[in-house]
Amino acid sequence: MNTPYEQLGDEGVRALVDRFYEVMGTRPDAAVIRAMHEDDLAVMSDKLATFLIGWMGGPQRYNERFGRVVIPAAHQRFDIGPAERDAWLACMQDAVDESALSPDMRARVMDSFGKMAEMCRTRD
Ligand code: HEM
Repeated sequence: MNTPYEQLGDEGVRALVDRFYEVMGTRPDAAVIRAMHEDDLAVMSDKLATFLIGWMGGPQRYNERFGRVVIPAAHQRFDIGPAERDAWLACMQDAVDESALSPDMRARVMDSFGKMAEMCRTRD
């Protein structure tokens, strides 16, 4: 079980993303980033899950379904400072903590999310 995808599978990654957006809808510190998204998260959930399935070591289907994406560039139009980055990571931490990932895989995944989220920051 060397990759997060091996531990979660498609279903598990999709459940993680659903939980992530559920948490984003309830945490007060995430209200600002929730408001950056559409009211209806169905398309975004599908996009993020499809992206993460590939990113976590599973099949790479994002490009064929949605086109090429460069994650930092996809965030350039948003106002993302340290508080917004940390709120995103806090929602993901909650979802990861409730997932089927092993404790050491949780730490590895959160480390990678931390680096990626930092690259999405658009201001100090
Ligand atoms: C740093 C904090 C972050 C914030 C505030 C944020 C917020 C957003 C928002 C508002 C959107 C657009 C939603 C829409 O079109 O309805 C988006 C798109 C997306 N985000 Fe993030 N995001 C963050 C970090 C991340 C990270 C770390 C990843 C990947 C590990 C990620 C992956 C994606 C993907 C795949 C899309 C879809 C891109 C597209 O439509 O072209 N985001 N994000």
